[in-house]
Amino acid sequence: MFERLREDIQSVFHRDPAARNAFEVLTCYPGMHAIWIHRLAGLLWRSGWKWLARLVSNFGRWLTGIEIHPGAKVGRRFFIDHGMGIVIGETAEIGDDVTLYQGVTLGGTSWNKGKRHPTLEDGVVVGAGAKVLGPFTVGAGAKVGSNAVVTKAVPAGATVVGIPGRIIIKSDAEQDAKRKAMAEKLGFDAYGVSEDMPDPVARAIGQLLDHLQAVDGRLEGMCGALTELGSSYCAKDLPVLRDEDFAEVKGREDQAG
Ligand SMILES: CC(C)(COP(=O)(O)OP(=O)(O)OC[C@H]1O[C@@H](n2cnc3c(N)ncnc32)[C@H](O)[C@@H]1OP(=O)(O)O)[C@@H](O)C(=O)NCCC(=O)NCCS
Repeated sequence: MFERLREDIQSVFHRDPAARNAFEVLTCYPGMHAIWIHRLAGLLWRSGWKWLARLVSNFGRWLTGIEIHPGAKVGRRFFIDHGMGIVIGETAEIGDDVTLYQGVTLGGTSWNKGKRHPTLEDGVVVGAGAKVLGPFTVGAGAKVGSNAVVTKAVPAGATVVGIPGRIIIKSDAEQDAKRKAMAEKLGFDAYGVSEDMPDPVARAIGQLLDHLQAVDGRLEGMCGALTELGSSYCAKDLPVLRDEDFAEVKGREDQAG
């Protein structure tokens, strides 16, 4: 128990530069109080003391302004900063090292029983005022921007902002590297195209580069096989794409920018 307590306090130091010492965290962090009360409420809930669990949970809400249903599953080193106005529904599941700021709702969009609240995987951060609504998963390490309204699954490592939530960053370094390699191979810089660009045209170009990459790989394989069979079909070089061919488009972009 003391081990968990120490872990909780450490998690505050890691994620709140304003925290000065353990006594301050123990006494002045409603997020911590809410989590401790939730542990008790959860224990009662799982032991079949449903009404008492709801009562304890309601006491926690009254004390901290944070409402965590006793049925919600919460992982380790959960950190709620400030806390007021947070609502966490019955079937919500929260992984380890998750951070929530004030005004966050992990809610449902239907009145059906069963799983109706989101699952936040390890390391997710949900910004102040954000609403995450529905029985989908927010992948490990994803960030939800403050005041976003998210109603669809979020891939691991992505950042979602706005209403409705849109992804601004996808942590796919491998894919970005492949695209860069393909753009270089084609002989031009596709104006920094990557998955994290919200521009739909840029994203479409990114998709085309992915497709080209796949086609290119397959052609190379076929050429290798043909050469082994003694064909000289692949001996000829492909025409080179020249920078000048894109100069007009680039010029127009520079003028607009
Ligand atoms: C979403 C968030 C995690 C993004 O952080 P980041 O990865 O550093 O991203 P950036 O700040 O570089 O922003 C990237 C783009 O998203 C936009 N953006 C960032 N946060 C946004 C938000 N909450 N809503 C809408 N757009 C947002 C930025 O304006 C920027 O747009 P641009 O590329 O057109 O300039 C962060 O802005 C956020 O909201 N964190 C929550 C913090 C919080 O709630 N703190 C409360 C403390 S009390």
